[in-house]
Amino acid sequence: MKIVITTSFEETCKKAADIIIDQINTKPDSRLGLATGSTAAGIYPYLVKANKDGKVDFSKVSTVNLDEYVGIDPKHPESYRACMDRWLFDHVNIDKKNTVVASGLGDPDESVKAFNKAIADGGQIDLQLLGVGLDGHIGFNEPGKVLYSHAHREKLTDSTIEANARFFDKIEDVPKEAISMGMGDIMKAKSIVFAANGENKTEAIKNLLMNDAIDSQWPVTVIKMHPDATVIIDEELAKMVGYSC
Ligand code: F6R
Repeated sequence: MKIVITTSFEETCKKAADIIIDQINTKPDSRLGLATGSTAAGIYPYLVKANKDGKVDFSKVSTVNLDEYVGIDPKHPESYRACMDRWLFDHVNIDKKNTVVASGLGDPDESVKAFNKAIADGGQIDLQLLGVGLDGHIGFNEPGKVLYSHAHREKLTDSTIEANARFFDKIEDVPKEAISMGMGDIMKAKSIVFAANGENKTEAIKNLLMNDAIDSQWPVTVIKMHPDATVIIDEELAKMVGYSC
C-alpha cells in the first residue's frame, strides 16, 4: 500500500481527484469504480471543476458504483443513483448510458443478478474509489464471519444504519439492506484509491495500517493484499491512529 498523509480533508479529496484525473487522461476510456458517502462527495467537486476547466474528458469513461440501497427509488434523493447524478454525472460530459448503479427497486435477487452481469460485462475496473464505514465496511461488505466475492445482498449493521441516518429524516427511514459489489469484485480492480477522514474512522484505519492481519471482522483490511492501492488520510486521523511515516 502507498500511504499518503495530507494536511486536511480538502487536500485528501484533491489528491484522490488528481489520481482519478490522471487515470482518465492516461486512459480516456477508463472504467471507474465509484463510491458514495460523504468522503466521496468531497472528491467529486474536484472532478467536476477539472471537467469544466477542460482538464479531463469523461466522454469515453464508464463507471460502476459499489452499492445501492434495497427498496429505494432511484428518484429518492438519497438513492445512490440520485447522489451520483447530483454530485457528478449531471455536471460532467459523461454518457449516463455508461454509468452502472445497481437497481434498488424490484426483486433484489434479480437486481443482484443484473448487477453481477453488468460488472462482468464491463470488464476490469481500472480504478476503484473506496471510503470506509465506521465498522470497517468497504462497499457495503459488512464485517462478519464470511465475506463474499461477488455482488450480493447485504444486511446493514446497526452501526451503518446509525451512521447513514444523517442523510434521512429519521433513522426508521434508513434502508436496512443493500446490494453491494463483493470483495473479489473490488480486489480485481487494477488500482484502488482509498480515502478516509474523521475521528470515528480511527478503529478501521488502525486495523488497516497498524497490523498485518486480514480480518473479516474488518473488511477494509483486504486492501493490504492489493498490489496497487493508495491510502489517503489526513494528519489528524494519522495521529489518532498512531501512524507515522
Ligand atoms: C458507499 C460505500 C461506503 C462508504 C462508507 C463511508 O458507496 O461504499 O462504503 O464509502 O460508508 O461513508 P462516509 O464517507 O459517508 O463516511
